[in-house]
Amino acid sequence: MTNNEDIFKKVTAHCKEYGFVFQSSEIYDGLAATYDYGPFGSELKNNIKDYWWKSMVNLNDNIVGIDSAIFMHPSVWKASGHVDAFNDPLIDNKDSKKRYRADNLIEDYVQKINTKIEKDCLKAEKKYGNNFNRQEFLTTNKRIVERQQKIDKIEKKITLFLKENDLPSIKNLIEELDIKCPISGTCNWTDVRQFNLMFKTQVGANQDTSSDLFLRPETAQGIFVNYLNVQKTTRLKLPFGIAQIGKAFRNEIIARQFIFRMREFEQMEMQFFIKPGEEMIWYDYWKKSRMLWHKSLGMGEENYRFHDHENLAHYANAATDIEFNFPFGFKEIEGIHSRTNFDLKAHQEKSGKKINFFDAEEQESYVPYVIETSIGLDRLFLAVLCHSYKEEKLDNNETRVVLKIPAFLAPIKVAVLPLTKKDGLPEKAKEILGELKLLYNCKYEEKDSIGKRYRRQDAIGTPFCVTIDHQTLNDNSITLRNRDSMEQKRIQIEDLNLIISKKTSYINVVKAIEE
Ligand code: GAP
Repeated sequence: MTNNEDIFKKVTAHCKEYGFVFQSSEIYDGLAATYDYGPFGSELKNNIKDYWWKSMVNLNDNIVGIDSAIFMHPSVWKASGHVDAFNDPLIDNKDSKKRYRADNLIEDYVQKINTKIEKDCLKAEKKYGNNFNRQEFLTTNKRIVERQQKIDKIEKKITLFLKENDLPSIKNLIEELDIKCPISGTCNWTDVRQFNLMFKTQVGANQDTSSDLFLRPETAQGIFVNYLNVQKTTRLKLPFGIAQIGKAFRNEIIARQFIFRMREFEQMEMQFFIKPGEEMIWYDYWKKSRMLWHKSLGMGEENYRFHDHENLAHYANAATDIEFNFPFGFKEIEGIHSRTNFDLKAHQEKSGKKINFFDAEEQESYVPYVIETSIGLDRLFLAVLCHSYKEEKLDNNETRVVLKIPAFLAPIKVAVLPLTKKDGLPEKAKEILGELKLLYNCKYEEKDSIGKRYRRQDAIGTPFCVTIDHQTLNDNSITLRNRDSMEQKRIQIEDLNLIISKKTSYINVVKAIEE
């Protein structure tokens, strides 16, 4: 097991042990690829949503929010192209009867070559020490250059085959690369077929008269069909945006990597409506703006990168992913898409309702173009946890597990801990708690030694612990312990709020983006 796989396993186990994420329906042995958020997980998730909503809706004068229904008229999905084109290529192994995404099999194959390249680099780094030049090694080492050429060739082919919907060539590529089923170890594959990712359900009690509906695979369509309602009621002029947070559902062929790819997940999406012809200006604007937002979370600038799409979704004329460096490699966390006027035009044609904007300056009407930003809430949650999870060796040789969650996102901001359960300390602690909980999400604990209680707060990522002892009763001072440095400071109760608010407020984070 590589170090990173090990960390990922530890993070998933930690999520369960400390009430962040549970397998759905666990008492019935769980439902695959579906998860529930526990007490601390739901707090963290809410804080992430809050930060996104504040920075997207509250801090932009020209962006408003909505909350549309999950059920939508079936024509929506016909018009949007999802009925015909929202497919993944699947393939079955005839021996194991296991089903795979054909493009994922090829991706995994490429990943294995990448891992070999990485191993060679590590070996060389060990050998040459400070004299090692990674870039030079990658471009001059014969074996690595050959491997990289192989990767490039495979990626070029799969991109082309996906673009042209050339399913027989995808199968040929799998056979040519001799890719085996990880379960049966054989290459006994079926043909590649397209599989629609939307879940179907029925509305109405009577089977004969009920109609088929789809669970939405993206929240965006709820925004498009409300474009006229929102524009008329808010009287916003172009450019303006509509944002929403909500559940989306996809019947993923293979759901994997914990909450990274699920069948029920949450998106935070914003559609920015613009004048036709301005799409590349706004596409670049939102690329830059969203990257700055991610970096504002403080999880290391080097852990983000763009990945421009060559194989575009059916609605896009340009698209990029913001990728985060997860323990299993750089993977998509947010998509930024130039959707042209594909969706509004399609809804206009299908519904027969005019979806126009009257541009008073130009004295003309047109169907607006759209730039979309679409981030997976669960993926961002996972990124925060993976990045925050640390195992630290202490002076006494013990190891502490601490979640160094950005303080403004932490589920609990302050733990209030009386040193002992007697001598009036719990009463004084509850008095302090009464004031603090009006402002912050707090936790009160009086059981176990103070050391054990500090460890528990470290494990759920609480940035501050306030300890009340006998001296507190005499001079109203407490000990404030900092999660990251473990430093303990004696301060007056009246100074607590200023210190905690400075560190846990999202305001400084937002200001840093603006500067
Ligand atoms: N409206 C555009 C759209 O849905 P997408 O790239 O398919 O675009 C946007 O999805 C984001 O939703 C992704 O960047 C990812 O973070 C998240 N996402 C997509 N499928 C997911 C899944 N099965 N599980 C968890 N998150 C997912």
